[in-house]
Amino acid sequence: MTKLTNDIIYIGASDNDIDLFESQYPVPDGMAYNSYVIIDDKIAVMDTADRCVSDRWQTELMAALDGRQPDYLVVQHLEPDHSANIGWFTSQFPEAKIVLSSKAASMLPQFFRSVAFDNLMPVKEGDKLSLGKHGLTFLMAPMVHWPEVMVSYDAYAKCLFSADAFGKFGATSDEATDNYDWTEEARRYYYNICGKYGIQVQGLLKKAVALDIQAIYPLHGPVISENVKFCIDRYQSWSTYTPEAEGVLMAYASIHGNTKAFAEQAAEKLMAEGIKTKVIDLARTDVSYALSEAFDHRITILAASSYDAGVFPSMENFLLHLKSKNFNNRKFAVIENGSWAPTAARTMNAIIDTMKNIEIIAPTITVKTTPDAASLQQLDELIANIKSAL
Ligand code: FEO
Repeated sequence: MTKLTNDIIYIGASDNDIDLFESQYPVPDGMAYNSYVIIDDKIAVMDTADRCVSDRWQTELMAALDGRQPDYLVVQHLEPDHSANIGWFTSQFPEAKIVLSSKAASMLPQFFRSVAFDNLMPVKEGDKLSLGKHGLTFLMAPMVHWPEVMVSYDAYAKCLFSADAFGKFGATSDEATDNYDWTEEARRYYYNICGKYGIQVQGLLKKAVALDIQAIYPLHGPVISENVKFCIDRYQSWSTYTPEAEGVLMAYASIHGNTKAFAEQAAEKLMAEGIKTKVIDLARTDVSYALSEAFDHRITILAASSYDAGVFPSMENFLLHLKSKNFNNRKFAVIENGSWAPTAARTMNAIIDTMKNIEIIAPTITVKTTPDAASLQQLDELIANIKSAL
């Protein structure tokens, strides 16, 4: 339990043993499930927490309440990593009202079939809830990251309870202070979880910029109080699919090492030309990291082996993930390898063709096992074209 202000208390908890968040994203630094209590004439609890930290969250809540009864539970997001304790809360505090969007009210019974909710208080865009000095204004944020999401602005504390937005992979310390290494894991979290919904995130940001926000209290990751403008600026970039990294990304998928060797040879030539080049091995890098890097770069070079008359699976998986997250407004270069009938480029291009606003930088290079003089000449042409495309 940590006091963030005189009357806003952090009661979140972290899981340091989790392997995969949402059963798909590696979180080597754990995961935080944040929750807050506002103590005023009326007491509001801001979301609950995941079942894996239920004991800790319940203990923290009781300590924060210190014998007082909460008046409201504000449910900003129904996904189980935040809603798992709503049933317990209702049984413990039957008089408290549950404040939530109309969409959340309609979905809530699906998550708690055996609980009777008699005190639901659905709210809509712009509705206000006075707690005393503090007052919450509710702003709907559909698809950031589920349809029922809303965020809450406290005009007295000048803080935004932002639900999943501005979250980050990784546990937080008990102090829940700002984390200056925010960007990398916040970007991986953003593009993997909300990347598909840039337009909806833009909608939320338009509302946010009209507010005086001195602190952001997300449902994951550290509270943001010293870097508010920096973090909002990152969300402006990310939600408009704007690349931020210098140079190019080389993403390769190699079976026996020949494609890897050509990719590394290309990367060395690029760097010799003064082009910063980040190289990743798709077979040995979780796709969530590769996806975040691709969104961060304007140009990604795809180098892949042919496989079963298609493309090596780690490349196919990478491209399909990009497509599913609405990857757009970028440039690719394509390198294929195939020892007898190369098929990787055709397969990669078929997926790329389904993405919006993508340019392919010529020439597409075909390597047969190891590069010959013709493929090396094509590589020089490609590097020249990449240089002028940057
Ligand atoms: Fe952290 Fe969309 O739940």
